[in-house]
Amino acid sequence: MTSHFYEPANGHGLAHNPFKAIVGPRPIGWISSRDSQGQLNLAPYSFFNAFADTPPIIGFASAGYKDSVRNIEQTGEFCWHLATRTLGEAMNQSAATVEPSVDEFDLASLTPAASKVVGVPHVQEAQVVFECRLSQCLRLTSAAGEAMDNWLVLGEVVGVHIDTALIDDGVYQTAAARPILRGGGPGDYFEISDEARFEMRRPS
Ligand SMILES: Cc1cc2nc3c(=O)[nH]c(=O)nc-3n(C[C@H](O)[C@H](O)[C@H](O)COP(=O)(O)O)c2cc1C
Repeated sequence: MTSHFYEPANGHGLAHNPFKAIVGPRPIGWISSRDSQGQLNLAPYSFFNAFADTPPIIGFASAGYKDSVRNIEQTGEFCWHLATRTLGEAMNQSAATVEPSVDEFDLASLTPAASKVVGVPHVQEAQVVFECRLSQCLRLTSAAGEAMDNWLVLGEVVGVHIDTALIDDGVYQTAAARPILRGGGPGDYFEISDEARFEMRRPS
């Protein structure tokens, strides 16, 4: 194998930065939040994942101190939505760079629905929703200890909504909702399918 090696601090030497294309496909953290005045906000974050399951903790990272981070620090609450093929366009519209006073639910023609545990409304059209309480908001640092303008928001999942159409015999069907995942170039997404599924058990 011939390897293309680079040190990111000195540039990647390729036509396009491969970093995000390599760490992919990534699930999308489609996040609703509200500021202390009650202004609603919705935005996607693909630096997103789950980090613990008991209690369940999810997190997303913001490049810059964006509205979602500020809102969640103000209220301590947010909701996460599964971004699916049918909601893809709406999810993308909610990424528009707009003034904090603009409600991305309106922008993307989505319906805010009251949540059960937290005060932040969620997207009614989403088939899976996590209601979350902020557990930590961390400002990232480089290996040299320099503060970066990147923020990791972690939240405990305190309420879960699942469309029962996605549950078969008590088992949640991962591919059935057609989740969309980010990867590849700037506009590239991936879907998953049951045909692509394979099984591999852990060694005992
Ligand atoms: C699929 C997708 C993934 C994104 N992932 C991120 C991300 O991980 N971090 C980030 O800072 N911005 C990300 N963005 C851009 C934000 O969604 C965008 O800056 C948005 O306006 C932020 O909204 P807010 O200021 O209301 O929080 C992403 C956009 C899209 C369409």
